[in-house]
Amino acid sequence: MQRIKLWDKEFEISYPFEEIQSAIKKMAAQMKMDLEGKNPLFVCVLNGSFMFAADLMKELEMNDVEISFLKLASYEGTASTLEIKELIGVNENITGRTVVILEDIVDTGHTIANVMAQISQKGAMEVKIATLLFKPEAMTAKIDLDYVGIEIPNDFIVGYGLDYDRRGRNLKDIYTLVK
Ligand code: IMP
Ligand code: MG
Repeated sequence: MQRIKLWDKEFEISYPFEEIQSAIKKMAAQMKMDLEGKNPLFVCVLNGSFMFAADLMKELEMNDVEISFLKLASYEGTASTLEIKELIGVNENITGRTVVILEDIVDTGHTIANVMAQISQKGAMEVKIATLLFKPEAMTAKIDLDYVGIEIPNDFIVGYGLDYDRRGRNLKDIYTLVK
């Protein structure tokens, strides 16, 4: 499927599954070097990161790792990404731990900065960020990204966990909006 239609919009394949997997393998190798022996807690930010987290975990040849999942509560009537959103689902004691946040995409960076601040407040010793996709041109938050899979232009994409109005998350490849 080179082209697909979701709702009213057309998308064209831009990052095939194989390219995504090779980026994930590189991230996993780097993580193994950095994190072995640290008993890291990986935190997958739902919904978008579910495919990335699953594939990354399978490539990570480490035994002392744990994985957890969180969701950000979105309050009705507020669309701003600058709003502080509550984290739901992180019940582990993270005091003193090395935490790696797994994100599907960093756009402006405000979502991940928000998650990072809240995880730090819970007493983590260090918080690292791993994002499969990164739009450097859109980034305005002042944070460092520790692991980046693929840098992409400032276009709207879907697939491999990412959605357009709830659709497209199931797609194996990543597609870019046709303008
Ligand atoms: P940020 O707070 O601007 O970095 O936005 C991050 C969130 O916006 C991601 O977790 C996605 O849910 C969503 N997002 C950003 N860019 C895209 C895109 O191109 N396609 C689908 N969702 C996106
Ligand atoms: Mg996300």
